[in-house]
Amino acid sequence: MKWWQTTTIYQIYPRSFLDTNDDGIGDLPGIIAKLDYIKDLGFETIWISPFYKSPGKDFHYDISDYTQIDPIFGMLDDAERLIREIHKRKMRIVFDMVLNHTSDEHPWFKESRSSKDNPKRDWYIWRKGKSKDALPNNWISMINRPGWNYDEKTDEWYFANFLDFQPDLNYRNPEVKEAMFAIMRYWLDKGVDGFRLDIFNSIYKDAEFRDNPFSLRFIPTPDSQDEAFFQKKIHTLNHPDCFELAKEVHSLLDEYSSERFLLGEVSGNDVILKKFLGEKHDGLHLVFQFELIHFQFSANFFRDLLSKNEAIYPYPYTPTYVYGNHDQMRYIDKIDRDPNKAKLLALFQFTARGIPVVYYGEEIGMQDSDIPNWQGKDPIAQQNAFFPTPLANLLGVYMNRDNCRTPMQWNSSINAGFTTPATKPWLTVNNYYPQINVEYELSDKDSLLNTYKALLKFRNGNSTFQSGSLFVETNYKDYSDLLVYRRYSAEKSFLVFINFSDKDLDIKVNHVKQIALTVGETKLNANSSLELAAYSGIVLEI
Ligand code: NOJ
Repeated sequence: MKWWQTTTIYQIYPRSFLDTNDDGIGDLPGIIAKLDYIKDLGFETIWISPFYKSPGKDFHYDISDYTQIDPIFGMLDDAERLIREIHKRKMRIVFDMVLNHTSDEHPWFKESRSSKDNPKRDWYIWRKGKSKDALPNNWISMINRPGWNYDEKTDEWYFANFLDFQPDLNYRNPEVKEAMFAIMRYWLDKGVDGFRLDIFNSIYKDAEFRDNPFSLRFIPTPDSQDEAFFQKKIHTLNHPDCFELAKEVHSLLDEYSSERFLLGEVSGNDVILKKFLGEKHDGLHLVFQFELIHFQFSANFFRDLLSKNEAIYPYPYTPTYVYGNHDQMRYIDKIDRDPNKAKLLALFQFTARGIPVVYYGEEIGMQDSDIPNWQGKDPIAQQNAFFPTPLANLLGVYMNRDNCRTPMQWNSSINAGFTTPATKPWLTVNNYYPQINVEYELSDKDSLLNTYKALLKFRNGNSTFQSGSLFVETNYKDYSDLLVYRRYSAEKSFLVFINFSDKDLDIKVNHVKQIALTVGETKLNANSSLELAAYSGIVLEI
């Protein structure tokens, strides 16, 4: 097996991890200072959201120089040191690569918009309007606004599938592809182990600029944005040429003798996700599967998800299990902020077959803040400044991403140890930091943090959980709130029991060799009866 098929991933949002120069913004030296914390937790791979040079209007997902580090985060030297320090600890580093668009302040775009005959004009997607004041076609962006933006100087429109200051590059121009591939090589040469690819499914659009067809759907489904606002976005998302690009980038990584990998941010149904992975496993190595972001806290939900993933993504496919990221409400807010329920979700994440991706702070149960849109720094919140939050919640859209990006809570001092007490952090620290912080939870053996540590240690020490098979058990049907699955390899076999109910359960189990791990209150009696208290779980070796 390749290392990335068994790894565990920790995501850092660099602005919010640790500030070492008292400007209220996290930085690369801050990440370096906390590498031992992540290593000690037990993670192998760190994915860091972008820290390249950027005007920062979308907090560095709008890049103006892909080979320089933004001075607020440090210098190129710091990035190189970060790579070295991570490797020194036998860990891996994944950079975030935004191929779809640049910032409108990138020198390429400045040139491109300067005149119609500039050599870089065709590096972006420019079109004439259908008539004066009429857009070139009906394409709306991923955030469901008109995707075309008018440029007065040349009387043409440029397309942006995200925010208007993030113009989409034109990959139908071979020079663009070459330039972006050179950037990836630049970082691969410096030793990065892989890329998380931002909105990879948006890169190619219809070459003929045909209108997207009408759809009856207004609100997008939770795990896919490709149909919304009365539009089937077939010409702007998941274009077949994106699947081919996945293969090309895969080949680029194959130029390197050590194994690197790609983790794609794409969305769509499983047929589409599999196309990104490639029929011969020659596309993206992994894709995010976002179903867990919209989980229901029930055994049925998790059983169905596992059964589906085992049926559709058998080995060598490797599912990914992710509860949150820098664009989503923190998962603990979806389970009444109950750490006992969170422990069960972690138990699932680290014992299922696949790659767990954990967003910083999930391990301590960091909660969403409640910063209203009108106070948001997030450009999405600013665009929706007066949109009522209850309505947004009802529609299932998350509008102020500041709320899941608040500073990491390291201890109970003012500003939670993220920055000095006298410094104003870029986002206010969440109110609950005196109780929810690393220092406090390390000292409490039953804390969520120590559960994450125990689970990681267990997984890291048990190859069956890293690379073994999974079978969803069906002979516990009488217990509707109980999830049971088997993990097995040639050497060992385990049963994982997770009690999603608020009631104690008494279950008959056979052939138990030993208790391998427990979460919450459990008891295995001599007569093979297993008592599981409400919201508890156990792993038995059989
Ligand atoms: C997806 C990223 O996760 C999000 O944070 C960003 O704003 C957009 N892509 C645009 O790059």
